[in-house]
Amino acid sequence: MKLRVIKIDFHRQQQLLQLLQKAQESVENGEEVSTEFARVLFPPSRKEYELTYYGKESVQSIISKTFAAPIQMDRNFKGSGEQGWINKIIFGDNIQFLKSLVEMKKRGELKNSDGTDGVRLIYIDPPFATKQDFSIKDQKAYADKLKGAEFLEWLRKRLVLLREVLSDNGSIYVHLDWHKSHYVKVLMDEIFGEGNFLNEIVWYYRRWNIAGSTFARNHDTILFYEKNNKNHVFNNLYIPKSEKSSGKGKSWLSVIDEVTGKRKSILQDEESKGVPMPDVFDISMINPMARERRDVNYPTQKPEKLLERIIQASSNEGDLVLDAFGGSGTTAAVAEKLGRRWITGDVGKLSIYTIQKRILAIDNHKSFAVYNAGHYDESKLNSFETNEWKKFAMSLYDVEPHQDTIKGFDFDGLKDGELVKVYSPQDFEENTKITEDTLRDIQMRIGPSLGNEVFIIAPQGKFGLAVDEYDNDGEWDTTFNLLRVPYSMFQKFTENFTPLKQADDLNSVNEAIDAVGFDFIRPPKVEFKVEGNLLSILSFEAFSRIKGEYQSNGFEAFSMLLVDYSYDGNIFVMDKVFYQHDFDEHNTVTLDINKATEKMMYIFVDKFGNELKATLKE
Ligand SMILES: C[S@@+](CC[C@H](N)C(=O)[O-])C[C@H]1O[C@@H](n2cnc3c(N)ncnc32)[C@H](O)[C@@H]1O
Repeated sequence: MKLRVIKIDFHRQQQLLQLLQKAQESVENGEEVSTEFARVLFPPSRKEYELTYYGKESVQSIISKTFAAPIQMDRNFKGSGEQGWINKIIFGDNIQFLKSLVEMKKRGELKNSDGTDGVRLIYIDPPFATKQDFSIKDQKAYADKLKGAEFLEWLRKRLVLLREVLSDNGSIYVHLDWHKSHYVKVLMDEIFGEGNFLNEIVWYYRRWNIAGSTFARNHDTILFYEKNNKNHVFNNLYIPKSEKSSGKGKSWLSVIDEVTGKRKSILQDEESKGVPMPDVFDISMINPMARERRDVNYPTQKPEKLLERIIQASSNEGDLVLDAFGGSGTTAAVAEKLGRRWITGDVGKLSIYTIQKRILAIDNHKSFAVYNAGHYDESKLNSFETNEWKKFAMSLYDVEPHQDTIKGFDFDGLKDGELVKVYSPQDFEENTKITEDTLRDIQMRIGPSLGNEVFIIAPQGKFGLAVDEYDNDGEWDTTFNLLRVPYSMFQKFTENFTPLKQADDLNSVNEAIDAVGFDFIRPPKVEFKVEGNLLSILSFEAFSRIKGEYQSNGFEAFSMLLVDYSYDGNIFVMDKVFYQHDFDEHNTVTLDINKATEKMMYIFVDKFGNELKATLKE
C-alpha cells in the first residue's frame, strides 16, 4: 500500500491544533463544533464560490439517480380543435414526473412552435419553507416540514431537472418571497449560470397593513433566468394604462433616462406602444369577490394577470409552458387562454381536481388529460398494446429505446450501453415462459456480439427462472439480467419508498412533499351514509405499503372528501372539499343541501392519494 505524504507548513499545523483544541472544548461543553472547523480542515477545492450545506448532492448524481416515473393516462377530456398534442395534468411528485419529461424531450415528444425540443417556458411557485399563514378563515399557522438546508436541497433537485426539460431558447421564472429568495438566487446562479440571470422581478401588491416594527411586506420576488446565452424568446410588453400617472387627457410617465440617469417625463401618444415594462409588477392580490377567486378558491392561488405577463413575454402561441407546482392551475388556465400548450402537475389530489374543473370551465378549451406518475392502475397496464407496454417497461428501467437487429434477432433498447430485449404480455402464447432454453437460444444465435451483459425485460410471471441473473453457472461469457415488470420494482424501491402524502386540513395543502417510488392504486374501503344534510363515514380503511407489504389504516389515513353536488353522470366537477379536520368526533360533516341535486358524487381520498368514487342517489 502506498502512503501519501501530506506536507503541512508550520502555520497550518498551529492553526489545526488550535482548532482541534477548540472543537474538543466545544464537545466537552456539549456545544456545537464551529463551522469554521470544517472550512479550515477541508478548504473548498474550487476557486469559485458556492452555497454549501449538509446533504448537497452533485448535479450528475441527481440526474442519474432520480427515478423516472412514466406517466399513465387516467382520464381524458376532449376539447375543441385537434392539435395532435394533449395538454397534461400530472398527479405525482414532480421530481419523478420531471425526470419522465426529460426522457420525453429526448424522444422528441416535447416540441415548441419553432420545432425546438423541450418546453419554452417554466414558471414555478413552490411552497416556501417557512411557517406561514395561508388560511384566511381560521388564521392557523401552516407548518412546513422541510427546513433550511433540507428545503434548499429539495428545491435544488427539482431545479436541476427543470433545466434539463427547458428548451435551449427557453426561460424559467421562480416565484419566491423574502424568506428564501436570496439562497435560491445563489442556487439558480450555480445551476443556470450567473450569466443567464435576466431579472429579479418584484411583484408588488397593495394590501391593508397593520402597523408594526418593520416596513409592511408587500412584495414577492420572481427570479427570471434564460437557459443559454441571451437567445431566449422575449416579447416586449408595455405598461398598461392603469399603471401610468396621467395628465389631463394625456398620459405622462415619469422615467429615469438610461443614458443621463436623470428623471424625465414621457408623453404617451396613442401611436406609440408606451414604455417598456419595468421589473416591478404592480398587480393586486386576487380580490375575494373576483370571479377568479370565487370559481377556484385554492390557498396560495396567484392572479391570472401575473401569469399573463410572464407567458406573453416569454413564449409564443403554440409553445409549451410548464408549471411543476400546479396548485390551482393558474399557469395552465392562462396558457390555455393565450393559445399556448401546457403541462402542469401537483402532488395533491385537491389541486388536480381544482385544475381539471378550472380548465373545463374555459370556453373552447383544447383536449387535455389527467395522468398518474408513480401511482399506477395495474389493470390498465395489463391492457396496454405491445408497443405501449414496451415503452412503459423501458422507462421504468431507464432504458434508452434503440431498435437493433443482430443475426435476425430484434433488440429494443440500450441500458448503460448494453443490449435490452423486451417481451410484452402479447408476445407469449398460453403457458409459454422465458426459460433457460430461451436464453440459451439467444446466446447460441448471437454469440460474442451479445457483450458481457444483456437485459431481458418481461412481465412478472412470464419468467420460468426464479433468479435475477443467469450465466449458466459461469459457462457463458454473457450474463442475462432478468427484469420483471412490475413486481421487481417493489423490491427495488422497498428500501427507500416514501409514499405520497395528502393534506388533511387547509393549512397542509401547501406542504412541500417528497415522495419517491412506485405503487399501485388501491382504493380505500369506505362505508358512509347521508341523512338529511349530514354525511357520516361509518368505516374507512386505506392500504399503504410499508416494507413491501400492504398495511391497512383506519380513519387517521383519511385525507379529504370531494363533492360534486350536481354530478352529470360523466364528469366530476368539484364543488366542495371537506378535509379530515372538518369532520366532527362522529366522523360527520354538514353538506350544503341547498346545492344538492338528485345526483351527487363523492370522492373519498386517502393520505396516500388513492380515491374511492361513490354516488348514493341513482
Ligand atoms: C404555492 S402552491 C402553487 C400555487 C399556484 N401557483 C397557483 O396559482 O395556484 C404550491 C403547490 O406545490 C405543491 N407541491 C408540493 N410539493 C410538491 C411536489 N413534490 N411535487 C409537485 N407538487 C408539489 C403543493 O401541493 C401546492 O399545491
